[in-house]
Amino acid sequence: MSEHQSTYEPKSAFERWLDSRLPIVRFSADLMSFPTPRNLNYWYTFGGILAFCLMVQIITGIVLAMHYDTSSHGAFMSVQREIMRDVNFGWLIRGLHANGASMFFLAVYLHILRGIYYGSYKAPREVLWWLGCVIYVLMMATAFMGYVLPWGQMSFWGAKVITNLLGAFPVVGGTITTLLWGGFSVGGPTLNRFFSLHYLLPFVIAGVVALHIWALHVPGNNNPTGVEVKGKQDTVPFHPYYTVKDLFAIMVFVILFAAVVFFIPDAFEKVDNNIEANPLVTPPHIVPEWYLLPFYAILRAIPDKLSGVLALAGAIGMLFILPFLDQNKVKSMRYRPAARLYFFIWIAFCLILGWCGSQEPQGTVIPGPAGPVIIDYGINSVTWLARVSTAYYFAYFLIITPLLAMTEKTLPVPDSLFTPVLAKSAAPAE
Ligand code: HEM
Repeated sequence: MSEHQSTYEPKSAFERWLDSRLPIVRFSADLMSFPTPRNLNYWYTFGGILAFCLMVQIITGIVLAMHYDTSSHGAFMSVQREIMRDVNFGWLIRGLHANGASMFFLAVYLHILRGIYYGSYKAPREVLWWLGCVIYVLMMATAFMGYVLPWGQMSFWGAKVITNLLGAFPVVGGTITTLLWGGFSVGGPTLNRFFSLHYLLPFVIAGVVALHIWALHVPGNNNPTGVEVKGKQDTVPFHPYYTVKDLFAIMVFVILFAAVVFFIPDAFEKVDNNIEANPLVTPPHIVPEWYLLPFYAILRAIPDKLSGVLALAGAIGMLFILPFLDQNKVKSMRYRPAARLYFFIWIAFCLILGWCGSQEPQGTVIPGPAGPVIIDYGINSVTWLARVSTAYYFAYFLIITPLLAMTEKTLPVPDSLFTPVLAKSAAPAE
């Protein structure tokens, strides 16, 4: 908010008194009058939608915690019987929280894709972008730990597979895993640790979101043209223009959210998770939630465990280094047809990776005392598809993006973000 001059005038004696001690009303008024580019489209409403999602997760989560039993003996029943059946509207609170996580990720993926498409990670918004990346990593950690809490089969075995990955790191791996488990395997102490962190992290996310919005208000919003605001003529005050637009988008989002919660509440749930965790029975097909599937596919595409873990971390790391990889001065892909094409191909490969991650591992299956056991995962068409997609995923960031930044012939960029707006309104009606 550095360049934005405050227009707030305290009206009463009390407001003047408060303003000279804690200018909180001035701060809120400045947020509302913040000059915002006049050409923001609906892709720019996802920030507000995400803030709404975070609020829903925190409120419903606090209510769930009131009825949740954190012991490994009571966790499953406290969810399945107490929350789902005995607590008034417990089923609704849980439905909102569990499906809310999926809605949150849907919104965050669209928010990130929007950021990449319009080049919002480029100067002067790199810190804003990195804070967003930190939020994303925190969201994944929170969701992963939350998934363990119902203490069903998928909770338990998902936790086992993912925490075991840390053991792949030489020297420190074993110690870190033991610390995280609170013992020598996933068990009661692990559940307690995950509950504690799952309660804490959303508040850390809220803190980072505050920094994210602060970092947004220093340079101001980017916009679909990627052309920076040049003066008053390019902006409108945030309120009422974008408060109303954001509220409308949130309402549409709520309708979709409600449709999921009321009509298909189990759509994202794995049936196995309605069976209590049993360390002696391994489910044949352990899968994470849909929003983590592409990373799971990258992990499984690489036969060596440590390399797989590094590739998984690297895939997320690509987002962090994106501002260094793309040095092209033109921000928006509206004027970068080649970058746009490779970006859409990248999205397609991410979806393919998601599909690969959801597939059952094929290989040699032998009967075991507690059901079928896969002894050799083998190499099959899904693995190869995942490998090709992984290769494109990394090539997009490490080869295609830097090369395009240097060589692409961009389309003419308008001299002001206002020009395309005027051109549209001046165009004859069809
Ligand atoms: C809890 C999660 C998040 C919340 C509540 C949030 C909130 C917001 C809000 C309110 C805005 C301004 C409105 C808009 O542009 O949509 C914004 C902008 C932005 N966010 Fe986020 N965000 C979150 C996660 C992320 C993530 C994960 C990333 C990227 C990895 C990210 C990157 C950005 C960028 C680059 C902008 C500037 C967009 C532009 O001006 O073109 N955000 N965010």
